[in-house]
Amino acid sequence: MIISSALDYREAARRRLPPFLFHYLDGGAGAEQTLRSNVDDLQAVKLRQRVLRGSEQLDLGVRYFGQDYGLPIALAPVGLTGMYARRGEVQAVRAACQRNIPFIQSTVSVCPLAEVAAQADKPIWFQLYVLKDRGFMRDVMRRAWELGATNLVFTVDMPVPGARYRDAHSGMSGPNGPLRRVLQAMTHPRWALDVGVFGRPHDLGNISAYRGSATGLADYIGWLGANFDPGIAWHDLQWIRDEWKGKFIVKGILDPEDARDALAFGADGIVVSNHGGRQLDGALSSAQALPAIAAEVKGKLAIFADGGVRTGTDVFRMLALGADGVLIGRAFVYALATQGQAGVERLLAIMEKDLRTNMVLTGVQSVAEIGPHLLAK
Ligand code: FNR
Ligand code: LAC
Repeated sequence: MIISSALDYREAARRRLPPFLFHYLDGGAGAEQTLRSNVDDLQAVKLRQRVLRGSEQLDLGVRYFGQDYGLPIALAPVGLTGMYARRGEVQAVRAACQRNIPFIQSTVSVCPLAEVAAQADKPIWFQLYVLKDRGFMRDVMRRAWELGATNLVFTVDMPVPGARYRDAHSGMSGPNGPLRRVLQAMTHPRWALDVGVFGRPHDLGNISAYRGSATGLADYIGWLGANFDPGIAWHDLQWIRDEWKGKFIVKGILDPEDARDALAFGADGIVVSNHGGRQLDGALSSAQALPAIAAEVKGKLAIFADGGVRTGTDVFRMLALGADGVLIGRAFVYALATQGQAGVERLLAIMEKDLRTNMVLTGVQSVAEIGPHLLAK
């Protein structure tokens, strides 16, 4: 199929992936209201068209935590990225380094940190979950630090997995899951050969590295439910803050009061996020939540935002709503599933072009100039 825009990758990924993987990626919690409003509310953001403002020399560079990056975009942590393309985290980090943007590696990645860090020519960012096994958390933080990760993204909006009804229908979860997944792989031979056969081992690389034995993915959804810790509270974060020597970014903030708490806690950054509509269905979309949070903490810590970003125009909109940087989740994985590293690089090139076009059409020359004054009333 012809791929001319970022949106085309979703359809290409749908054709290539076995349904259990496509729906795990594409789906959200409950009736998927929040998932839909992430996309719809962002697309509804109207921008001011400005003319004759001489935007010739454009600067798309940004600086986060003392490091220069080429675009205000980062690859979000996405669990099981290595199931969408062969050694997917490795391909994604290579694309991120090639475009000089941050790659945030999930706790529940397929490839272990060591395999990914070895492919990166700059520090990766590591995303940490609160697991009941605090020994694992200590161990993986130490491992991440030794491998040069300087920024820890601590995800707080998944103390329990959300209700993901698509997973039961698709075979991702449920008693007949394993058999159904094998049957789906057989009818998706390109994926089966590329990832199913040559993309092994299929397991949770970081957990296996800690345990010293393969974790396996036979009951991944069950594993999430059994190992995530709903008892976590702000005071539990203190030891993590104390042990982590680098920057600390709290991911999953959707309320101005929580943003204030994150600031008081001493976070260096937050990610305004509802986990891509995968957790609390009925929560505000990120586009709705962001302005009030920016009003509260802008300039006091780094504000990243994600949820529903599919195009370069959406990146621009998030920046106009108050973000300093934007994470993309599904958008990059659709591209990765379709064309691997080259797909992610191409997606980023398309997004960059969109962003440049928007900057000219709104009359700004640098990312720092994009802000609420560009929103049409
Ligand atoms: C996620 N997300 C996520 N977040 C996180 O902190 N750790 C993780 O392991 C995962 N895993 C994960 C898997 C899949 C399949 C998806 C789609 C998402 C959430 C992710 O980082 C990000 O917040 C959302 O994906 C942003 O929304 P969009 O860009 O996908 O609309
Ligand atoms: C998810 C987890 C892994 O959203 O973050 O499925």
